[in-house]
Amino acid sequence: MRVDVITLFPEIFSGYLSQSLLSKAIQRGLIAVHLHNLRDWSKDKHHKVDDRPFGGGPGMLIRVEPVVDCVEDLQRLDEPGQVILLSPQGTTLAQSMVQDLQQFSRLILICGRYEGFDQRVIDLLKPLEISLGDFILNGGEVAAMAIIDSVMRLIPGALGDERSSIEDSFSKSNEIEFPQYTRPREYRGLTVPDILVNGNHQSIEQWRLEQSRQRTAARNAQNN
Ligand SMILES: C[S@@+](CC[C@H](N)C(=O)[O-])C[C@H]1O[C@@H](n2cnc3c(N)ncnc32)[C@H](O)[C@@H]1O
Repeated sequence: MRVDVITLFPEIFSGYLSQSLLSKAIQRGLIAVHLHNLRDWSKDKHHKVDDRPFGGGPGMLIRVEPVVDCVEDLQRLDEPGQVILLSPQGTTLAQSMVQDLQQFSRLILICGRYEGFDQRVIDLLKPLEISLGDFILNGGEVAAMAIIDSVMRLIPGALGDERSSIEDSFSKSNEIEFPQYTRPREYRGLTVPDILVNGNHQSIEQWRLEQSRQRTAARNAQNN
């Protein structure tokens, strides 16, 4: 998979992309992440990409021309891919959407800053607008990293054990995972449930299923 990220702050990504599973997946050619500084598409001599909103109001907006020019240039390099604009006004990211995104061989992620984008960016590019949730971030970079990170987990071969992404919360239906324990068997009076150490795989499976259901029901009740 190829991911192109359009941002005003490409440096934000370097530490993140160079660590852990993601850096290994990049080294192994499972995912390629290309960073593009939107200022490189500015025609302004000071590389400005923002301007004041018509009608007044606080802050600045990202202008339409550099974003559209940038996306069109990137699309000429390879297949057009799925264009995604990170926005609090978009559809909230969920595992089912991550599964859909993993089917694309190319994603182009556009990160906003300031007060967001001139509406014509959306009207012209018709991106998929994705939000991390009903709160406001300073920019789309954290949301872009969340997409890269979650999609990467589903690429075959990216995780040490494929079962991890299959058993993760929200992967099968909308259930969350069962509780898990590792050593020591007892800590500050809290012990690992006997069923997990009795070696009966069928009863462990049954217990885990039941725990998932109970936890999912409790979580749903809390969220509603
Ligand atoms: C300060 S926000 C702009 C918010 C905008 N004025 C509004 O009310 O919708 C700047 C940029 O951060 C990103 N952003 C902020 N919150 C986000 C969220 N919850 N999910 C995804 N991206 C977000 C978007 O790219 C957005 O263009």
